[in-house]
Amino acid sequence: MRIDIITVLPELLASPFEASILKRAIEKELVEVHFHNLRDYVTDNYKQIDDYQFGGGAGMVMMIEPIDKCISKLQSERNYDEVIYMTPDGETLNQGIANTLSLKENIIILCGHYKGVDQRVRDHFVTKEISIGDYVLSGGELGAAVLCDTIIRLLPGVLNDETSALTDSFQDNLLAPPVYTRPSDYKGWTVPEVLLSGNFPKIEAWREEQAYERTKTRRPDLLED
Ligand code: ADE
Repeated sequence: MRIDIITVLPELLASPFEASILKRAIEKELVEVHFHNLRDYVTDNYKQIDDYQFGGGAGMVMMIEPIDKCISKLQSERNYDEVIYMTPDGETLNQGIANTLSLKENIIILCGHYKGVDQRVRDHFVTKEISIGDYVLSGGELGAAVLCDTIIRLLPGVLNDETSALTDSFQDNLLAPPVYTRPSDYKGWTVPEVLLSGNFPKIEAWREEQAYERTKTRRPDLLED
């Protein structure tokens, strides 16, 4: 898989890809991640990427031309399955969206800033709009990093057995059950007996029940689907 991220702040995006699971996925060549600085696609000397909005009003709008140049250059080099725009008014990210995107070959992620991008970018280039939640970030970069993390950890070979994605919360629309590790008794706070029993069918049944109970109390909306 290849992910191209278009941003005005590549330095804000770098560190999540330089540690732990994402770093290893890149090193193992299971994913390629490329950053494109929008200012490299601006022709004027001021490197201006935004301007006042037509009709007046507070806040600058990102101009279409540099974004067009960057996306068109990438699209002339290979086919992209999606051009994703990170925006608070997009579809809220969930595990299902991450699962679907993890099956794609090449995607572009466009990070917005200020009041966002000129609507014509959304009308003519963007194929999918994603929000990471009902709150406003200063820009799309942190959202793009979150999106990439959810996608990349699902790629075959990225996670090993100990970190398997199959038992994560939200797979099967259930939250994950509680987990425990050594010691089995800490200051009198003990681990549920069943987990120490060695009876694996019983352990599995306990985990399923706990996952269901946890989902019912914390996120009943997940059970409605
Ligand atoms: N840009 C600003 N706020 C955002 C959000 N909640 N999700 C994705 N991108 C954003």
